[in-house]
Amino acid sequence: MCGIVGYAGPAAASPSSRPIDVALQGLSRLEYRGYDSAGIAVLDNGSVLQAKRAGKLQNLRNALGEQPVTTSRVAIGHTRWATHGGPTDENAHPHRGGREGELALVHNGIIENFHALRTELEEEGYTFTSQTDSEVAAHVLARDMEQCGDLTEAMRRTVGRLEGAFTLLAIHRDAPDTVVAARRNSPLVVGLGDGENFLGSDVAAFVDATTQAMEIGQDQVVTVTADTVRVIDADGAEVADPTRYTIEWDATAAQKGGHPSFMAKEIQEQADAVRSTLMGRMQDGLLTLDEMQIDEAVLRTIDKIVVVACGTAANAGAVAKYAIEHWCRIPVEVELAHEFRYRDPVVTEKTLVVAISQSGETMDTLMAVRHAREQGAKVIALCNTRGSTIPRESDAALYLHVGPEIAVASTKAYLGQIASCYLLGLFLAQVRHTFFPDEIAALMADLEELPDKIQEVLDNTEQVAELARSMKDATSVLFLGRHVGYPTAMEGALKLKEIAYIHAEGFAAGELKHGPIALVEEGQPVFVIVPSPHGRHSLHSKVVSNIQEVRARGARTLVIAEEGDDDVLPYADHVIRVPQTRVLFAALLTVIPLQIFACELATAKGLDVDQPRNLAKSVTVE
Ligand code: G6P
Repeated sequence: MCGIVGYAGPAAASPSSRPIDVALQGLSRLEYRGYDSAGIAVLDNGSVLQAKRAGKLQNLRNALGEQPVTTSRVAIGHTRWATHGGPTDENAHPHRGGREGELALVHNGIIENFHALRTELEEEGYTFTSQTDSEVAAHVLARDMEQCGDLTEAMRRTVGRLEGAFTLLAIHRDAPDTVVAARRNSPLVVGLGDGENFLGSDVAAFVDATTQAMEIGQDQVVTVTADTVRVIDADGAEVADPTRYTIEWDATAAQKGGHPSFMAKEIQEQADAVRSTLMGRMQDGLLTLDEMQIDEAVLRTIDKIVVVACGTAANAGAVAKYAIEHWCRIPVEVELAHEFRYRDPVVTEKTLVVAISQSGETMDTLMAVRHAREQGAKVIALCNTRGSTIPRESDAALYLHVGPEIAVASTKAYLGQIASCYLLGLFLAQVRHTFFPDEIAALMADLEELPDKIQEVLDNTEQVAELARSMKDATSVLFLGRHVGYPTAMEGALKLKEIAYIHAEGFAAGELKHGPIALVEEGQPVFVIVPSPHGRHSLHSKVVSNIQEVRARGARTLVIAEEGDDDVLPYADHVIRVPQTRVLFAALLTVIPLQIFACELATAKGLDVDQPRNLAKSVTVE
């Protein structure tokens, strides 16, 4: 939620476009985090220069015109998802701080005590031009700088005055080669270049320029110039050895590569994505999770699992319940992270909390993780973004390895999350001896066939695409499923709401007759996800009955069924085929036609598939 970038480079012999180019390029890579406005600031001939515009980054580019050059050695930039104050030019970042506007600052997060600080600053004569909480931070920092004359120390003092969540980046006219930054609960990484350094909300901001990154801890302040990176903690002590790592994602992974949208590209990458998630897990006949830093003896004492997540990740978590309860005989609860955090959940030292998050930064999920650990629970994070906050604050982290996901609507990370849940479930079954090793090896062998089956689905998308185009004027679509088909129905509906703005509901098919069937009238499109007839027969026949029930009331039925399942034919207006697999593993296949349906339908409506209205990819506020 909000993307921020920073750059510090060498003194230019003559005016250069590099700082502005780097900032704009970084913002284009982070635009998925918010696109209500965009802005940049540089220091030119001893004063702050900035440009900012409401709307998408293109508006800022248009305002800047062709190849803007500057004598500045530094730049900061921001792409916004509005919280305090509407999406206007005035509320766009950067914000100026100080009586003479001597400082520019960008902010991601929410400053909870901004009202009290604003009153205090106004009494001292500081003037405000926006409704944002962020402008307060700009003035507090400028005031601290005026008092101590050192930008790093000023930022440390400012962090001490602020409550809430924030990443702050600032430049000041009296420190022309420096970008100073700090973070609490919001993300910030440093990119270590050769004679230049970078800052970003995530590594996508600078991955074209460097693969070397550094993590910044809670309440730490980092001061960056072209050649130096210095980190201090909240007490002002030097952080001797900040964690450095090599970024595994290559720059091309964050480009569309000929696809019409990032979402279309990421859907097509799903076979490889799941292959990466599963890669190298079987060693000498045993399922091995090297990252599992929770002791096996502790895992044997666990008497309950609670999965916490939001959005698409929560639907992946719902699949985990079916798999883990079946394989491990441990009760599994699946909770939306924000609901878990603010009731009084029963969590003990024998609870294993599984936090699922693509970004590793979702504030609701992070708060649930902290709450669980305070109660003594062990937490394992299933995340995609290395070095992000949730895995760092968990007892163990299992990474998805699906590569950067740029489109706001999650697709390949969803499949990676489900595959990771299977790995975790099978690993727990192995540790707790609910299965013999050869049974686990057999399940893993079947699971490892899934990438090829995913590819088969991806190679046959024209029927769904055609269907989607023909339904672009639909106003309501229902999705039904049982067992793992239920979370799939939820996810299919979520995708359609998110990017095509069509009213959609996912239901447990068994619940149909308890209310939702009243929605069905002549022509109502209903997707039904049918489980394998080779699995539990009763499950399959119940879903087939559900198709008949809606069809009898006039529904247009769009049935996703396994190859060879002819029982559905008499009741299906359209049959979309997926390859045969185990009932539990079908969650990796049946969702794909639904993702494609939403993507194609939104494209046919002329919508911006990658940046749907009102949403952001990474929600770093509660
Ligand atoms: C936002 C995104 C969703 C995503 C959810 C959880 O709402 O728009 O696509 O599923 O956050 O994100 P996470 O990074 O925690 O998986």
